[in-house]
Amino acid sequence: MSPSPSPRPDGAVGAVVVLAAGQGTRMRSRTPKVLHEIGGRSLLGHVLAAAEPLGAAETVVVVGSGRAAVEEHLARTAPLARPVVQEEQRGSGHAAAVALDALAELTGAVLILNGDAPLVRPETLRELVAGHSAAGAVLTVLTAEVADPTGLGRIVRNGSGAVRAIVEEKDADADQRAITEVNAGVYLGDAAAVREALTRVGSSNQQGEQYLTDVLGLLVADGRPVGGHRAADPDDTLGCNDQRELAARRRTLNDRVLDRLMRAGVVVVDPLTTWVDVTVDVAAEAVLHPGTQLLGATTVGAGAVVGPDTTLVDTEVGEGASVVRSHVHLAEIGPEASVGPFSYLRPGSRLARKAKVGAYVETKNVQLGAGSKVPHLSYVGDATIGEGTNVGAATVFVNYDGVAKHHTTVGDHVRIGSDTMLVAPVTVGDGAYTAAGSVITGDVPPGAMGVARATQRNVAGWVSRRRPGSPAAQAAEAAQRSAAPAADAAGAGPIPATDEGTTSSGASGADQ
Ligand code: UD1
Ligand code: CA
Repeated sequence: MSPSPSPRPDGAVGAVVVLAAGQGTRMRSRTPKVLHEIGGRSLLGHVLAAAEPLGAAETVVVVGSGRAAVEEHLARTAPLARPVVQEEQRGSGHAAAVALDALAELTGAVLILNGDAPLVRPETLRELVAGHSAAGAVLTVLTAEVADPTGLGRIVRNGSGAVRAIVEEKDADADQRAITEVNAGVYLGDAAAVREALTRVGSSNQQGEQYLTDVLGLLVADGRPVGGHRAADPDDTLGCNDQRELAARRRTLNDRVLDRLMRAGVVVVDPLTTWVDVTVDVAAEAVLHPGTQLLGATTVGAGAVVGPDTTLVDTEVGEGASVVRSHVHLAEIGPEASVGPFSYLRPGSRLARKAKVGAYVETKNVQLGAGSKVPHLSYVGDATIGEGTNVGAATVFVNYDGVAKHHTTVGDHVRIGSDTMLVAPVTVGDGAYTAAGSVITGDVPPGAMGVARATQRNVAGWVSRRRPGSPAAQAAEAAQRSAAPAADAAGAGPIPATDEGTTSSGASGADQ
């Protein structure tokens, strides 16, 4: 769930700028760094979501490396954010200048954030805004005290604790490297002052780049009031520069999501193996067993039980339902319905109240009515199934003729016999049965028994003639010998050898 927006501190932030043009070389990936995903959103998406409650009139994202992909992503997920192109990646200061050029009309405060620090939260940004306003600063940088500052810009303060400069690790001397307060890459400043200072930022540093961080020292030298706001939770400030850091941020984000769920009364049996996207909603008293992944727009109702080893993507699970060792995508599982173990529910699978999809079943685009069951080993695709119906083991809804998909309609209180092939398009009426092993190609009227299979024929004595001496022949002959005296006593002759078949039309659906 996105955090609930709180009232905007009026006029506090005029525009938000997210720096997302960097290449992210250390990720060693063709995907632009800011598009890597954790917890159901891109890194960039998390940053935008954190800034959104501030209610800035404009949001600009500086794009460059992997620009087309980033622009396409923004159009799809954050259409109100405006991409601005930084043609050459000449550093974070240059990126900020490009953004401010695109915000020529902007007066008041601008919030500038790195696009690769996904754990920043709205409350942290709100505290930064409050601290900045209270201090009457022209620029405030978000900082954090960290155990290991390696690779990060250090916050240099003077004897009385006032921030004097930010020094990049590569440019720092030994004393500066020993500093453990670091730059989070989040800055709140007066747009005019930042814009002007950026024109004075050079690139005579170890990386030959225009550092946004130099703005701070320039404003200090001008005698302008500059501040540093320490984040209450240093995790908020952590960036992602390689795959290890990405995994670590993903873990931290997941811990936060699970923490929120558990505080709200969700039972998380094994937090280490339970992964829940930030977009997921789980009600109190739901139980998440080990190996559960809840992704995308998934919701889980009160008292529902999910897992172990279950993945739900964009799926709605009703109150008191259960889903065990299954993979479910874009489905609706009604209240008190049950799924699994070992089933695969594909898009459009909709189970009504108390419906059941049991073991080794695949479903797709199917409406399963209240209390209806598909207990074992079946494929059910493109179908509407009424209430109180049972689909016997190993039934296949034959929906595809090699060219087009066709629909099957099954009524209420139907008994589909085991191993029925329902060749769509076909309709089985209310209260009808199908005989086990039938290939149903024509409609079965309400209350009728559809039988469509070969008549059974027994060829007597075949095993003794064709497999003489085999264990099967010996067993058969022993059975005939032990049956013979009783038959003789009853005045009957030996078991007749007949080619006449017997017909059983019983619908032997499972679970009946
Ligand atoms: C930056 C800060 C550092 C801080 C750290 C926090 C600078 C000079 N240093 O270092 O003080 O501790 O973040 O994580 O800013 N970008 C562009 N265009 C460019 C270059 C960068 O848009 O030409 C963007 C990147 O996409 C990224 C952000 O600016 O989102 C920061 O760049 P990055 O190279 O990651 O800087 P760091 O070395 O992490
Ligand atoms: Ca970075």
